[in-house]
Amino acid sequence: MNIFRALTLFFLPFILIFSGKFITSRGFSYDYSATIECLAKPRRVHHGGGIIVNPEFNNGIEGWKMFGGGEIKQGSLKQDDDINTFIVAHKRAHPRDSLYQLVHLRHGKHYSFSAWVRLSEGSAPVAVLFRNSKDGQILHGGETIAKQGCWSLLKGGIVSDFTGHAEVFFESENTSAEIWIDNVSLQPFTKEQWRSHQDRSINKVRKSKVRLQITRADNSKLAGAKVFLDQKKPNFPFGAGMNYHILSSKEYQDWFASRFSYATFTNELKWYSTERERGKENYTIPDAMLEFANQHGISVRGHNIFWANPKFQPQWVKSLSPADLKIAAEKRINSVVKRYSGKFIHWDVMNENVHFRYFEDKLGENASAEYFNTAHKLDSKTLLFVNEYNTMERGNKTTATPANVRKKLFQILSYPGNKNIPAGIGLQGNFGPDPPNLPYMRSALDYLGSTGYPIWITEVFYRKTPNQAQYYEEVLREGYAHPAVKGIITFAGPLSANFTTLPLVDLNFKNTPAGDVVDKLLAEWKSPNLEITDDGEGFVEALLFHGDYNVTVQHPGTKSATSVSIRVSEDAAYQTFNVQLSNN
Ligand SMILES: *[C@@H]1O[C@H](CO)[C@@H](O)[C@H](O)[C@H]1NC(C)=O
Ligand SMILES: *[C@@H]1O[C@H](CO)[C@@H](O)[C@H](O)[C@H]1NC(C)=O
Ligand SMILES: *[C@@H]1O[C@H](CO)[C@@H](O)[C@H](O)[C@H]1NC(C)=O
Ligand SMILES: *[C@@H]1O[C@H](CO)[C@@H](O)[C@H](O)[C@H]1NC(C)=O
Ligand SMILES: *[C@@H]1O[C@H](CO)[C@@H](O)[C@H](O)[C@H]1NC(C)=O
Ligand SMILES: *[C@@H]1O[C@H](CO)[C@@H](O)[C@H](O)[C@H]1NC(C)=O
Ligand SMILES: *[C@@H]1O[C@H](CO)[C@@H](O)[C@H](O)[C@H]1NC(C)=O
Repeated sequence: MNIFRALTLFFLPFILIFSGKFITSRGFSYDYSATIECLAKPRRVHHGGGIIVNPEFNNGIEGWKMFGGGEIKQGSLKQDDDINTFIVAHKRAHPRDSLYQLVHLRHGKHYSFSAWVRLSEGSAPVAVLFRNSKDGQILHGGETIAKQGCWSLLKGGIVSDFTGHAEVFFESENTSAEIWIDNVSLQPFTKEQWRSHQDRSINKVRKSKVRLQITRADNSKLAGAKVFLDQKKPNFPFGAGMNYHILSSKEYQDWFASRFSYATFTNELKWYSTERERGKENYTIPDAMLEFANQHGISVRGHNIFWANPKFQPQWVKSLSPADLKIAAEKRINSVVKRYSGKFIHWDVMNENVHFRYFEDKLGENASAEYFNTAHKLDSKTLLFVNEYNTMERGNKTTATPANVRKKLFQILSYPGNKNIPAGIGLQGNFGPDPPNLPYMRSALDYLGSTGYPIWITEVFYRKTPNQAQYYEEVLREGYAHPAVKGIITFAGPLSANFTTLPLVDLNFKNTPAGDVVDKLLAEWKSPNLEITDDGEGFVEALLFHGDYNVTVQHPGTKSATSVSIRVSEDAAYQTFNVQLSNN
């Protein structure tokens, strides 16, 4: 449909500024850098609509039918000379009274979904659902928050577990509002295509092209040099959960330090661990763990200051009056953040605050926003995170949808004084046991990546299932490939340290299949040792993973060799270095 211009009618609560990189290769894009919410000026259909018939409603409502009760009709908005047409589901009586199109799905295929949605009044979640026409089974494909007066992007996806027909339809609880839909797309991908998108994206976002110019010490030209490239350290933060068992196990220490330079203490920093009894703080264990980490160059995420789940408050906290809770909580945040100020790379300030609202319920709507404010005052350089589960894990009806996580983050940042807090989005990644839904995972990362805030996958594991290791690998790859993901911490480790859900090594520190996956990926996400002869003009080019390298240059004509360190960074896709071979 035509874009309608010079739109002044509508109030725009958010306009997001583009911040990510746009990646396009052979018609495929990680579409995460676009504005996504409450747009007056709408956007084009993705993938030309994919397998959807009449995706832009250019031909009225052809191909679309009423799902449930109510009615559908074509809608149009006129602005200047342009007319934008879309579809309207009205006279709705049931949340699922909407529109549908019958599509044919294939078992195992990955389907990426997108549509622009809007309500005639109010603001409410709108979800897309897929109903197996044969057995009525329903798959959730994603959800967004639609509003009156502007268009919002509904992004999601499914992996079909059957071959056959399905109705694609929409759901919104409040039936008094009409659902407006435009530019619907459902694009199938094979598993192989999906994997090749990941590989292309990895080449683009995790590597840079490096050009070395080899000269003599006096800068004069040289030909025939041999260059050896040895990657000492990857840039991408890939780490693991760490617990107190590490203090008493040399094997665990060696296992950890030889693999990871990032960590999260699983429980040791939590309020219930450091202040078991009111007023008796004890940081002995997290202090010792941090010392171990520092000795081995391991950076640590501060997890967490508070946990919004009522179940996981210290026992003594549960019986406090709101006034006493306020005093105790202030003491807690001051104590833990002051103690570790500048020592952690991140703080999870109010863990799982979209699912739970312990502090809001006791202390008022602004409780979490105020703790972000306090944490920032006490530790101004450290990134402050919201941290949630079931946001990208699966498309099922869930509380912490990408739209709700985004809303929570923006609520916190809109609190007076919080605007410039360095913030991040933590997605835990507690997957399984069902097979992964990678299209949904990618849509969630796209959606939240469009905020411009860094995303970390903070606690990834895969629950027990016969294909655990394979599924674990698939979600790790999806996370690593996504441009918005800036780090991954897996909550997995040695069985002897009680990582029973996803052990990476058994009681003898022998790799489990999941441990093999981690070691394989650590090796794969690092450049192999390379030996390259220059092009005859003293130049050497290579596509290298970001990180620190030891470059050794030898010239067969002389016996001299020079070694230098270089850092290949993510700042530029193309980087040049000059290496001078010492005279001999
Ligand atoms: C749908 O795409 C067309 C361009 O193909 C555009 O003119 C129209 O505004 C879009 N509608 C929405 C709601 O994004
Ligand atoms: C449904 O939406 C209407 C219009 O926005 C609003 O007045 C009403 O309060 C909403 N009902 C519920 C239960 O949210
Ligand atoms: C603090 O914790 C450590 C480790 O659990 C323990 O050994 C020590 O006795 C505790 N200190 C106090 C004063 O309770
Ligand atoms: C929360 O903060 C906002 C902005 O300062 C304020 O307008 C509002 O009254 C506060 N709400 C509560 C319940 O304190
Ligand atoms: C989520 O969806 C999967 C299928 O996609 C289903 O097997 C599982 O039971 C659902 N889980 C919940 C909690 O609804
Ligand atoms: C191991 O973890 C389980 C919960 O997963 C817990 O109940 C148990 O106390 C832990 N054991 C040890 C030795 O840490
Ligand atoms: C770099 O590689 C050379 C040749 O293998 C080696 O002698 C040197 O110690 C290495 N330097 C570092 C910092 O690893």
